[in-house]
Amino acid sequence: MIGDKKVLFSGMQATGSLTLGNYLGALKNWVSLSDEYECFYSVVDLHSITVRQDAAELRRRARNLLTLYIAAGLDPEKNCLYYQSHVSGHAELAWILNCFTYMGELNRMTQFKDKAAKHADNINAGLYTYPVLMAADILLYQADVVPVGKDQLQHLEITRDIAQRFNGIYGDVFTIPQAYVGKVGAKIMSLQDPFRKMSKSDENPNASIYLTDDPDTVIRKFKRAVTDSEANIAYREEQPGIRNLIDIYCACTGKTPEETVKEFEGKGYGDFKMAVGESVVDVLRPLQERFSQLQQDKAYIDGVIKNNAEKANYYATKTLRKVQKKVGFPERVR
Ligand code: TRP
Repeated sequence: MIGDKKVLFSGMQATGSLTLGNYLGALKNWVSLSDEYECFYSVVDLHSITVRQDAAELRRRARNLLTLYIAAGLDPEKNCLYYQSHVSGHAELAWILNCFTYMGELNRMTQFKDKAAKHADNINAGLYTYPVLMAADILLYQADVVPVGKDQLQHLEITRDIAQRFNGIYGDVFTIPQAYVGKVGAKIMSLQDPFRKMSKSDENPNASIYLTDDPDTVIRKFKRAVTDSEANIAYREEQPGIRNLIDIYCACTGKTPEETVKEFEGKGYGDFKMAVGESVVDVLRPLQERFSQLQQDKAYIDGVIKNNAEKANYYATKTLRKVQKKVGFPERVR
């Protein structure tokens, strides 16, 4: 707890360009949570170097992501928006937690197995202990809730296991975090393969709508979106492509799937795709405008980065000192 509010932690990597899926599935919900919780939203750059990155590109993307947090409506006076690398406590706590995590546990992580297969030429130790760093992120702020996608639930589970193990030995040091699985309808799938999640690392640019896509590009991608040959706009499992388009339309307009099906009764896929594309353009337009305004205000963004890193450091250090004392490191001489 901070004051009378529960603490919420989440983070995103600045690798790849953010997609509509990231926005509708995560960022948009983050904004709606910021009144109820004391929120820490990190740009997790330490995590990003588990796969090879171009330094200049990573720096540029990290700044864009932080800017996008604000453009999406996160108020940096209320939410702590910061770079993970500006708070050294993440790495320090991760080291300690590494010593309380079993290789057997890490061997079970499905994301590690996937990533190791994908980056067979660089299966580094950081990729392997990635979940421990994620545990450190969360536990450092004594987070109560963590909004994550399904793909991160296993990492949250190991975080809870590590925290419980540590508390079992040293007493109540860490708050045990809970997953906050957002409202339904927010899981956006690829436009080219409705069985796969829309991903910022997809090689096919037509599979994803990027938050920076201009209106023509958005419409073109929706026109090409994979559907089916049923020629019937229905919300059902057998028509995953159309179902995904309905989900996107609903997330952008606030309508329900039932309303949408009724609205497009008797209409063709072409008309529907057009309408979905336009609803997305309407959501992206103000976001893109705010983003480019913010991007030009260097002093303002710099101020946010500085102030929020200080705030994050304050809370992180509090937890870190407690942990260091528990495990037996000597107290600092003042
Ligand atoms: N691993 C998460 C992802 O790739 C990002 C992340 C890092 C995170 N640390 C976190 C998410 C802590 C929630 C809490 O999506």
